[in-house]
Amino acid sequence: MSQTTDPHVVALCGGLRDASRTRVAIEQALDGARAAGGTAELVDLRDLDLPPLDPDAPTPPAAAALADTVTDADAVLPGTPNYHGSYTGALKDALDHLGRDEFDEQTVGLVEVAAGSHPGPALAHLRAVCRTLDAWTVPLEVAVPDSHSLIRDDGVTDTDLAERLDRLGEQLVRYAGVARYPEVAGVPGAHGD
Ligand SMILES: Cc1cc2nc3c(=O)[nH]c(=O)nc-3n(C[C@H](O)[C@H](O)[C@H](O)COP(=O)(O)O)c2cc1C
Repeated sequence: MSQTTDPHVVALCGGLRDASRTRVAIEQALDGARAAGGTAELVDLRDLDLPPLDPDAPTPPAAAALADTVTDADAVLPGTPNYHGSYTGALKDALDHLGRDEFDEQTVGLVEVAAGSHPGPALAHLRAVCRTLDAWTVPLEVAVPDSHSLIRDDGVTDTDLAERLDRLGEQLVRYAGVARYPEVAGVPGAHGD
């Protein structure tokens, strides 16, 4: 966590397709973060040379770079397609290379994009992982159903969904660095007292 300037939001796109609707959805949320005064960055996992984690192997350079990026973020936005009722293997591989060093007390927002009409399980699974890593997940989450009808290559076509994604980006900026809030507010017993 840095936050010496505007809150910096880093999104991790767990969809690898060229025309990933997940990427379009989280780009919309990042636009919301920028509109709320933050800076924003999309990390496309397909651009990283990130093998599945072998704990016995040396840390791959891409994993070290990703760890630095997440550590320096003031809020993190993992987004994933729904694959078989969960999040993607690509995102799991990335998260396995990360841990509490990067996520402890980090502010996190979650997005799931599904073709079917009942998204949600991937959010629950990701939320559990984030809590395991001692991150704070913001209350607003976005589960996108019927992705083919709400999202096109060039943007989110459904205005309600676009507005919800904007609000998620805004919430990430508002709660960026949330772990420091008691200290900033001068709450007795907070770190630094
Ligand atoms: C391997 C695989 C499994 C999928 N499983 C589900 C599923 O269980 N439920 C669902 O609603 N959609 C499922 N889908 C559809 C995707 O969630 C949907 O097409 C989504 O928009 C893909 O995201 P993307 O456009 O970012 O690639 C699956 C797609 C793939 C490729």
